[in-house]
Amino acid sequence: MQNISDDVFTEPEFSPDTLANLGPLRRLAGTWASDGGVDVNPKAEGPERRAFRERMVMQPIDPQTNGPQLLFGLRYHTHINTAEEAITFHDQVGYWLWEPATGVIMQTIAIPRGQVVLAGGTANPGDDHISVEARRGDTKFGICSNAFLEEAFRTDFYRIDITFNPDGSWTYVTRTDLAVRGQIPAFNHHDTNTLRRVAPPIPNPLAGVSTDGGTG
Ligand code: HEM
Repeated sequence: MQNISDDVFTEPEFSPDTLANLGPLRRLAGTWASDGGVDVNPKAEGPERRAFRERMVMQPIDPQTNGPQLLFGLRYHTHINTAEEAITFHDQVGYWLWEPATGVIMQTIAIPRGQVVLAGGTANPGDDHISVEARRGDTKFGICSNAFLEEAFRTDFYRIDITFNPDGSWTYVTRTDLAVRGQIPAFNHHDTNTLRRVAPPIPNPLAGVSTDGGTG
């Protein structure tokens, strides 16, 4: 059980400038793109390996408090296509969050397969490598899937490893364990890409207000 203060309502003072307070997540802020993604997914005939194109927007949000808990974060949307098909190959939205007081980092994931994830880990500002994990059945860092997926593609585990590269790009590797019709060992549905910045981040709304005295 995490030690929480008796007073769970009073909010702390905080800086309005999210970009200056993102800690280990600072190098994720901005708009990113790459044509070099690789996906391995389960098909009836066996693993299918596909190359993909990705555009990801990581936008700073205003600081978030839960009573005394203070979080700084990014809202993200990633859209993925392939050269072969017009239809979306993968779409994903969520938040990356950093809690300076504890060093906890979190990634939320919602995908239009009827599935959500809250993954967690710890990191320090300046870390060149960060990672978060989630497990089915964990009420803190867990995975929830619709009934069909629970039967056909039970998602038992998720992990992402991010490496910040010296040239400013960053590389991710995800591992998503899918127990196809409950089969163990689970299928390692994995994805990787190295993303390059195509646009700088836009400061969070509150940062804008605080610098121009609220004249908008
Ligand atoms: C770059 C990231 C990802 C890409 C490109 C991707 C792509 C795919 C593809 C192509 C399939 C095969 C089914 C189909 O053709 O629609 C698939 C299946 C699946 N993916 Fe992903 N995926 C990604 C990340 C994830 C993540 C993070 C999760 C969940 C945490 C996830 C959960 C699933 C599940 C449950 C299936 C099985 C459904 C099926 O095969 O019909 N995927 N994914």
